[in-house]
Amino acid sequence: MRLLRKITRSLRKRGLVGTLVTCVRSLPELVPHRSPVHWWDEQCNVDTEETANIGDLEIYPGGDDLSAVMYMPIEPEVFQMVMEALPGAVQGCTFIDYGSGKGRALLLASHYPFAQILGVEFAVELHHTALRNIQQYRSRVVQECKAIRPILSDATQFRPPAGDLVVLFHNPLARSLMEKVLAILSEHRGAIRIISVGAEIDSDGELGFKPVVRHQRFTIYSRSPAQVSTRVSDSQVLLQRADEAADPGTRPRRD
Ligand SMILES: C[S@@+](CC[C@H](N)C(=O)[O-])C[C@H]1O[C@@H](n2cnc3c(N)ncnc32)[C@H](O)[C@@H]1O
Repeated sequence: MRLLRKITRSLRKRGLVGTLVTCVRSLPELVPHRSPVHWWDEQCNVDTEETANIGDLEIYPGGDDLSAVMYMPIEPEVFQMVMEALPGAVQGCTFIDYGSGKGRALLLASHYPFAQILGVEFAVELHHTALRNIQQYRSRVVQECKAIRPILSDATQFRPPAGDLVVLFHNPLARSLMEKVLAILSEHRGAIRIISVGAEIDSDGELGFKPVVRHQRFTIYSRSPAQVSTRVSDSQVLLQRADEAADPGTRPRRD
């Protein structure tokens, strides 16, 4: 309607030829600007860029969508910066993206030698798009880990697998839900490194996640297994983990 009104006004003002000339001149403005991230989708043969309002999507039964606002993918450049800043090796670790959306972070993580890559997403449509993207993905960079598994679940209902974890939170959850997930993670026995893009976590340090890297765009927290084992009655775990306690960065590589 607005376009029609504009054209009528222009016809009155400029006449037919003048209007046609103006239309041709404005064409470049009408063609959508192609950002480098769209280019990434195109090059990798995936569909991750377009944002979505969570309110418009079907949510996994039992999922709490009250807090979720929108799907928005991580910028590949930010993901790369995060991985460059991440202290310690990732071999043998499980990567978990809480609120994995269309799976962009899962695909970006597949270029690193994680043992496995998991994504937890509660919006059904986004989860299905992630499954498709994983099938279709092609990249010039070698995928070091092909064990990628998106899981349809609410983040608070998901239980992480045993072993050392690298966890990504990219603006996924409201504070109350985040607290539930962090409480679950704080009971985990392995070492945990948490990458938080866009929100502070465990600000009072109560759960033992210490910030080890602070960047304008993200913070990386770490919690070594010894801190967990003090909560566990099994003293063997304590002994076994004592030599690994300082920092995951100082631990031997497992490759
Ligand atoms: C900002 S997007 C991040 C997407 C992806 N991690 C990335 O960086 O490309 C946040 C995602 O979290 C999901 N989400 C929000 N609350 C959730 C919950 N309680 N359980 C699972 N997923 C959730 C949303 O559906 C959305 O896809």
